[in-house]
Amino acid sequence: MEQQKNIKQRTSKNRAGSDQQVENNESRTASKGSTSRHSTKKTATKTATTSTLASVLQGLVLSVLFVFLASYLITDSWFWGYKGKYLNQRYWFPPKEIVFTQKELAKYDGSDPTKNIYLAIRGEVFDVTAGRPYYSKGGGYGFFSGKDASRAYTTGCFQTHLTHDLRGLTPAQVADVDGWASFYRNHQKYFRVGTVILDPIDPNSPIPEDCRQPVAAKPSS
Ligand code: HEM
Repeated sequence: MEQQKNIKQRTSKNRAGSDQQVENNESRTASKGSTSRHSTKKTATKTATTSTLASVLQGLVLSVLFVFLASYLITDSWFWGYKGKYLNQRYWFPPKEIVFTQKELAKYDGSDPTKNIYLAIRGEVFDVTAGRPYYSKGGGYGFFSGKDASRAYTTGCFQTHLTHDLRGLTPAQVADVDGWASFYRNHQKYFRVGTVILDPIDPNSPIPEDCRQPVAAKPSS
């Protein structure tokens, strides 16, 4: 009798236990369901954001392409006729600066067709090889090559002012010379290569005389 009672008690306890487990399992499944629903929602939001970004990017790329194409059709140039330094790869990847002596610079005067052509303005050296027809020996502006002839850039005295001596020039004339330096610095095809160590000007030497009749130098090409 006692034994039967014990068995009954154990059976009902077991039943209660398994009921509890079922309840636990159900509630776990329910919470799992809500988590997965939550993460599905998150993934959907993520996908929507990504596709919005993709279409914005696509729109941007198409607009840029359209601008370039329109430029080419209207101006015959991909960049609306822009010809500045930003199109020169040397601007983005500048070569190592070179410091020249005047003698070294003279080797790049355009007389050797296998060598680059350099010229200097106020001590700044530029590579003008891309303009070889102008700057080679015999070219319209060949006298500027291989030297710093700053003075001649403003006076136009292409025979007597091929010097870096700027004494006696007005501030406007000096600005004119600087204007040429920036012309070469910001050019699409020319670029700065370094500097030249210039001989000091003897303050007791005479200031170069004005040539009065500046010779217009027409480039040969
Ligand atoms: C102070 C006087 C002058 C200086 C310093 C000077 C300087 C220059 C330089 C450095 C260039 C070459 C530009 C390059 O590398 O692309 C050039 C080009 C040119 N210069 Fe002069 N120049 C002067 C006066 C004149 C005069 C008076 C004339 C007119 C007869 C003239 C006609 C030209 C022409 C037609 C070009 C070619 C432009 C081109 O095709 O891009 N220059 N000048």
